[in-house]
Amino acid sequence: MSRPVPFVVRIALAAALAALLALVLLLMPRGTSPPAIAQDPSTDVEAKIDGWLSRMTLEQKLGQLQQLDADFPTGRLRDDQLQLVREGRLGSTLNGRGAVPTNAAQRVALEESSLRIPLLFGFDVIHGYRTVFPVPLGEASSWDPAAAESSAAIAAQEARAAGVHWTFAPMVDIARDPRWGRVVEGAGEDVYLGSVFSAARVRGFQGDDYSRPDRVAATAKHWVGYGAAEAGRDYNTTDISERRLRETYFPPFRAAVDAGVASFMTSFNDLNGTPATANPFVLRDVLRDEWGFDGAVVSDYTAFRELINHGIAADDADAAQLAVNAGTDIEMVSRTLAENGARLVADGRLSEATIDDAVRHVLRLKYRLGLFDRPYVDASREAAVLSDPEHRREARRIAGRSMVLLKNDGGALPLSRKLNKLAVVGPLADSKLDMMGTWIGDGKEDDVVTVREGFEQVLGRRGVRYAQGCDAVCRSSGGFGNAVAAVRSSQAAVVVLGEPWDWSGEASSRSQLDLPGRQLQLLRAIAATGKPYVVVLMNGRPLTLDWAARHAPAILEAWYPGTEAGNAVADVLLGRVNPGGKLPMSFPRNVGQIPLHYDEKPTGRPFDPANKYTSKYLDVDNTPQYPFGFGLSYTRFALSGLTVTPNSIAPDGEVTVTATVRNTGRVAGDEVVQLYVRDRVASVTRPVRSLRGFERVPLAAGQSRQVTFRLDHDDLSLIDNSGREVVEPGAFTVWVSTSSVGGLQGSFTVTG
Ligand code: GLC
Repeated sequence: MSRPVPFVVRIALAAALAALLALVLLLMPRGTSPPAIAQDPSTDVEAKIDGWLSRMTLEQKLGQLQQLDADFPTGRLRDDQLQLVREGRLGSTLNGRGAVPTNAAQRVALEESSLRIPLLFGFDVIHGYRTVFPVPLGEASSWDPAAAESSAAIAAQEARAAGVHWTFAPMVDIARDPRWGRVVEGAGEDVYLGSVFSAARVRGFQGDDYSRPDRVAATAKHWVGYGAAEAGRDYNTTDISERRLRETYFPPFRAAVDAGVASFMTSFNDLNGTPATANPFVLRDVLRDEWGFDGAVVSDYTAFRELINHGIAADDADAAQLAVNAGTDIEMVSRTLAENGARLVADGRLSEATIDDAVRHVLRLKYRLGLFDRPYVDASREAAVLSDPEHRREARRIAGRSMVLLKNDGGALPLSRKLNKLAVVGPLADSKLDMMGTWIGDGKEDDVVTVREGFEQVLGRRGVRYAQGCDAVCRSSGGFGNAVAAVRSSQAAVVVLGEPWDWSGEASSRSQLDLPGRQLQLLRAIAATGKPYVVVLMNGRPLTLDWAARHAPAILEAWYPGTEAGNAVADVLLGRVNPGGKLPMSFPRNVGQIPLHYDEKPTGRPFDPANKYTSKYLDVDNTPQYPFGFGLSYTRFALSGLTVTPNSIAPDGEVTVTATVRNTGRVAGDEVVQLYVRDRVASVTRPVRSLRGFERVPLAAGQSRQVTFRLDHDDLSLIDNSGREVVEPGAFTVWVSTSSVGGLQGSFTVTG
């Protein structure tokens, strides 16, 4: 019978085996298997990332920093991209989407690559994934951050169900030049409104845990100053003082960071001589060192390679070195880093420590998304989530809240419900694609309800006479006759005008802001019939409306309302929804006034109609056609009873401002009560007024409510000439108003 192996021998054998295993693992070439620590649930994310970095080859690290563009129509990764995944040389994609295509690509990453790091799928979910909500500039017109949070949350649900982990939104660029087509993607001209909507959209996309199956990681973009492109020409140079950066362009990004945004995207523009994608001041000094941001930074599309066009990189290697050393982590689409990174490290132009930092940001994002634990999406949920009828109901509600009534002479609106023959005419009256605007995610034209269809659902097909008049570009008047005939044979007309969907958004700057082509001629021909008519505008930027503003009985700014466009327009025009939106951007009288924004500086010669030698034009008023914060209602409101207490505070004190808003009309409606502040005398010049609070207040006819605002250090501070944020002693004026013009005026003092 064999003798039992002595205990001490067994221990020695086990120790020898463990040492051998450790030696094998240690000697095993890097990148051939995940680190053991990655599987250890007891270790924290940073320790796990250390483990990954210790196991990855340089080529695999560079792979995590590469993002490529999947096939847009199908959402699939191409074969060559899947091969890079197998080789551990691709970390993320844009446009890869759909539960089946993303799971297929993920399976390659997790079953056919050696390291098995999950892929990250990014996509531009800007204002909806399948259910398309109003364009962001339209949604900002609601002055309802809860609505923005709601639409972003629904977009996140749909996107994540379709395998998308990461949205390249919200776009939070402050924009004061409507020639720039991308004003449509943001929240307009104001720092305070833009910051509130930035945070709301981040919360909506991410919730408090974006590893959940109904949330996505958000991206604050485009960092930074993109909206200041000279002459409103997209991708153009920006030259912005540090003061203006900190006072105007940084705050909505800071609001996103404070809301926990997962990532940033760099902007295309040259910023003060150093393109933003390679600008250490904004990428490291401000974002990382001052703000403590620990998320990932992705470049915009080929922005690495475009450093050559900018003239600061001689070749791809230069471009990669500049961008990564400045603090951009992921290269979108161009491959300058993947193709030159190893040599740059070998030549000492890039350190592997810098590469490790960038990879750490990427792996941290993947861990925070839960991709190492739940890399696949449940494909069985996708169809149901994308077709949830509640999403369309919410899209219709938010679209109605986003519309702004610019004019309503003689109560032209709401239309009489007794109407039974309505003309619905114009280039955008029955266009499904245009209703969604730009950046429509995975929106489908067939899902869209047009204005014509919206009214046909109410009046029946026989109750609506439709004629296009001309297409959206409207170079030909050949169809005007039909439109005029439709109007003549009806009791009233809804004239739907505006810009084709692709006249705003990226690469869509305009030098003129008039209605396109011969649309104004069509409108004048319809007006000449003498029939009652109202104008509905569908556009992605403030327009110069001139004749229409002077002659049209009523104008409703509907922006691009999204999937439920027609139902929302019918709701508003028929009075089922009382419009309560307010403009987030000033509408200029003409292009010559641009840049035009309400919070301008007073200058040394403020406009004085009695004095030639003051700041003005000879040929146009200084004021906008329609001011920031303006919007009418089917009812009327009155403000009264302003109180400002106390009337004197210390610099760290707080002022409470109250006022009563009353619905003095006969129908219920919402009023957006706005609080503006002016620091009368300070060590640096201050705007003539700055928005520092707002509340959209629903009121029944005859009802009134007291609105309360609090002003504290953050609301009253300025950046002095030594760069400090301080509240300086002196007099302050406050207004409680319903737009950026006029209002109840009060004052208080900050003591020394
Ligand atoms: C585009 C846009 C950016 C977008 C990215 C990916 O060029 O500038 O906003 O997120 O590329 O589509």
